[in-house]
Amino acid sequence: MNWKSLAALALAARGANGLLRFSLVNPGIAPSPHLHQVVGGNAFNTTMDPNHPPPSQASCTTCTFADDFSNYWTAVLYFRARNGSYHRVPQKPNVGFEQARGGMTIYYIPYIGSTKSSVTAFKPGFRMLIGQADSRTREEASRFRQLTYTCLQNAMTRTGETLDMPKQPCPAGIMANVRFPTCWDGKSLDSPDHMSHVAYPSSGTFESGGPCPASHPVKVPQLFYEVVWDTTAFNKKELWPEDGSQPFVWSQGDTTGYGNHGDYVFGWKGDALQKAMDSNCDSCPQLKSQSIAQANQCSSAAQVHEEIDGWLDAIPGLSPGMEAGH
Ligand SMILES: *[C@@H]1O[C@H](CO)[C@@H](O)[C@H](O)[C@H]1NC(C)=O
Ligand SMILES: *[C@@H]1O[C@H](CO)[C@@H](O)[C@H](O)[C@H]1NC(C)=O
Repeated sequence: MNWKSLAALALAARGANGLLRFSLVNPGIAPSPHLHQVVGGNAFNTTMDPNHPPPSQASCTTCTFADDFSNYWTAVLYFRARNGSYHRVPQKPNVGFEQARGGMTIYYIPYIGSTKSSVTAFKPGFRMLIGQADSRTREEASRFRQLTYTCLQNAMTRTGETLDMPKQPCPAGIMANVRFPTCWDGKSLDSPDHMSHVAYPSSGTFESGGPCPASHPVKVPQLFYEVVWDTTAFNKKELWPEDGSQPFVWSQGDTTGYGNHGDYVFGWKGDALQKAMDSNCDSCPQLKSQSIAQANQCSSAAQVHEEIDGWLDAIPGLSPGMEAGH
């Protein structure tokens, strides 16, 4: 089965077409100040010099597309036990990518449904951030569209997205969904808040073909991360807090889930991404691909040499008891 059939399987209900869907494996870890996982090209560097964007330095990538040296980041999810200890929640591969070692699924979507419209691929040096790590209320989170969670009843569940962390155990894990804005000012590769050079459609959504605002007229692909957190080891209700709250907490200390966020640094070689977006290809033979096994071999050495697995007294980078949100 090629990636497009897999995508069709997973996305049939959404009516997405001509998208790129692929898997990234083996997250590296970087302090930021809170713990993040990073996947993609191995040139990721916690200092990330903007004058040397990733493709010029990476020698391999954890992507299944070999020409993609971009970096994709999210926060890391922890389980907080009744005794106050924390354990990192493992990730599991998404539907269709079962051989991958965790990681996340990345989509670049040129259009949805039957309305074809051309998108402009990101440019070298482009980066963006979406979401706000310190959001703790629905109101704050509502500033962003489509940063959500899916409580997986099984691996195929794709309905019932919420802005906050699921309140009940999710039998097949929690999928965090991070969708980036799809309109660009056409000039700035970045901005001080890493967000104001991009915008959401002025009405409707990317999916509904909504137009870009005059300030951000250039339509870019819908970049979308799905990260499946394998909560199954922590789903027994007797492990959950006695007050009935849910036990999962993001690495920045967020128990509400409203602080969901993701970062992106573009790093495709040459015009590979633009070509893929233009051609609405099915198996994209013109894109150089590699097996998940090859991708698994490319792992950045973890850049923070701290204990990050096993039971911990505090979330790395945070003081004990710094989580908030109840
Ligand atoms: C990260 O990049 C900086 C600046 O380009 C460089 O000085 C440093 O050696 C790099 N660190 C690693 C671990 O590659
Ligand atoms: C805390 O609770 C977890 C989960 O029940 C347990 O595995 C761990 O050993 C406990 N840690 C301490 C320090 O008691």
